[in-house]
Amino acid sequence: MKKLLIAGNWKMNKNKKESTNFLVTFLAKVKTAEAEIVIAPSFTLLAEMQKGLKKSKIKLASQDMFFAREGAFTGEISASMLKDFDVKYVILGHSERRKYFLETNELVNKKVHSAIANKLKPIVCVGETQEERKEGFTEQIITRQVKKSLLKINDNDLKNVVIAYEPVWAIGTGEVMDAVEANNMAKFIKQLVDKLYDKKTSISVLYGGSVNASNAIDFFKQEYIDGALIGGASLDAEEFAKIALEK
Ligand code: PGA
Repeated sequence: MKKLLIAGNWKMNKNKKESTNFLVTFLAKVKTAEAEIVIAPSFTLLAEMQKGLKKSKIKLASQDMFFAREGAFTGEISASMLKDFDVKYVILGHSERRKYFLETNELVNKKVHSAIANKLKPIVCVGETQEERKEGFTEQIITRQVKKSLLKINDNDLKNVVIAYEPVWAIGTGEVMDAVEANNMAKFIKQLVDKLYDKKTSISVLYGGSVNASNAIDFFKQEYIDGALIGGASLDAEEFAKIALEK
C-alpha cells in the first residue's frame, strides 16, 4: 500500500485565531490517519502552527520561498528562516505564483536547488491552462515545466522532490479533472522523469485542482497518483480531516 501525501495549501487565508481554531478540530479528528499530512499556512502563522503541531505527526510546508541565502531581497523569505519553524516542505511554482508574480521555470529551478541544499522537500507545481489544453499543448507544457524545474537536480536528490500536477483550469473552480485522466497525466510525468534520469525513479506525483472530501478517494485509488495538493477544501478542518483519513 502506498503512503499518501495529503498537503493543504491555505494560500492567503486565516489569521492566528482561525488557525488555532482549525487545529483544535483537525488534530482531534486525524489521530488515526495513515497519510503524510502537510499544511502550508502563510508565513505569519508558522510560529503558531509550529507550536500547535509539535505533538502531532503533521508536517509544515511553506507556500513559497526565495532562493538566496540572505541579503537585500525585500519581502522575501529564505530556506534557513523557514527551518527555524520546522518547515519540512516548500510548495514551489504554484500556478498563482506563475500568474500573479510572473514566476518562470528558471526561477522555480533555482528555488528547487535551494530547497534541496537546505533539506527542504520541494513540492513543484506544474499544470496547463485551459487554452493550452484546448490547443493540444498539455504534454508539451508539462514536459517543459518538469524538465526546466528539475534542471541539474541529481538523481540522489530526486527522492525528496514531489511533483504536483495541477491543471490550472481546475484550481479553485470546482471543475475537477476526471480521475482516470489525472492518473494518465501522473503516469506521463513519472515516465518523463524516468526518461530524464535514464532509470526507474520513485518520484511522487500529487493531483491538485478542486479536490474535496467527496472526490478525493477517486484520485487516491489511481495507480500513479500519490496524494493531493488541496486548496479550498483544506481550509475547513472537518473536510480536510475527511480527506486526510482516506486510504
Ligand atoms: P483548490 O486549489 O483545491 O482550491 O482547487 C488547489 C491548489 O491551488 O493547490
